[in-house]
Amino acid sequence: MPILQVNNLTKVYEGNVSYKALEGVNFSIEKGEFVGIMGPSGSGKTTLLNMVSTIDSPTAGEVIINNRNPHQLKKKEIALFRRRELGFVFQYFNLLDTLTVEENIILPLALDKVKSSEMAKRVAAITSKLGIEHILKKRTYEISGGQMQRAAIARAIIHHPQLILADEPTGNLDSKASKDVMETLQHLNEQERATMMMVTHDAHAASYCNRVIFIKDGQLYNEIYRGNNRQAFYQQIIDMLSVLGGDAHELSTTRI
Ligand SMILES: Nc1ncnc2c1ncn2[C@@H]1O[C@H](COP(=O)(O)OP(=O)(O)OP(=O)(O)O)[C@@H](O)[C@H]1O
Ligand SMILES: [Mg+2]
Repeated sequence: MPILQVNNLTKVYEGNVSYKALEGVNFSIEKGEFVGIMGPSGSGKTTLLNMVSTIDSPTAGEVIINNRNPHQLKKKEIALFRRRELGFVFQYFNLLDTLTVEENIILPLALDKVKSSEMAKRVAAITSKLGIEHILKKRTYEISGGQMQRAAIARAIIHHPQLILADEPTGNLDSKASKDVMETLQHLNEQERATMMMVTHDAHAASYCNRVIFIKDGQLYNEIYRGNNRQAFYQQIIDMLSVLGGDAHELSTTRI
């Protein structure tokens, strides 16, 4: 049974001019898979992520996460579902600067009133794995971008979510920090069998995935799997991106 199933997903943004941002998208992600989502600007990546993360609802089609359709839940249940079943890693970290790194990381557990001894145990395990155990008492403005991103990853996974969703996790990092973060995510995927879906523009980041799904004009375009060789996979990704074209003006729009 896959962790995530996306069935015939369609999203139309209503407005003066309605715009079909996603059309009939189908794919699934198995437990333990690390899947990248790529495509030109405006192709529908964030729209897709927003449907999967339940931030926005589809016009047609469905999202099934661990056998449940979160969009059919009541508002209050959705909030709980998001908090318990999903882990979020966003580009701009979303860490609260009034809290210490440690307080940020335990937030998902604290909201669920987990015992403090249990929280301490999990914080120790995760932060030593991520190499941030020495900055736990600092505030978020006292640490580097790469450290912030690793703190955000710790917070995204501390409650053992079914599915980790990442939006451009390396988007504002330099190449060293970006490599660290991707190695961290890869490690997590391999050691903990964490299931991950990551939207990215960065071919280097995408080369850490087991599979990359390309979307274009709101539709699934292609997918490629990594073999044993990350370097070769990186080249395949670059080639696919050049076929897809990256410039907004090259893309036809799907107006309805
Ligand atoms: N709230 C909205 N209302 C109307 N149209 C929207 C809305 N959000 C996005 N769109 C349009 O839907 C299309 C897909 O947008 P989306 O944000 O999913 O693209 P993306 O692939 O994430 O692009 P980028 O790589 O630039 O982040 C775009 O043409 C965009 O202009
Ligand atoms: Mg986007």
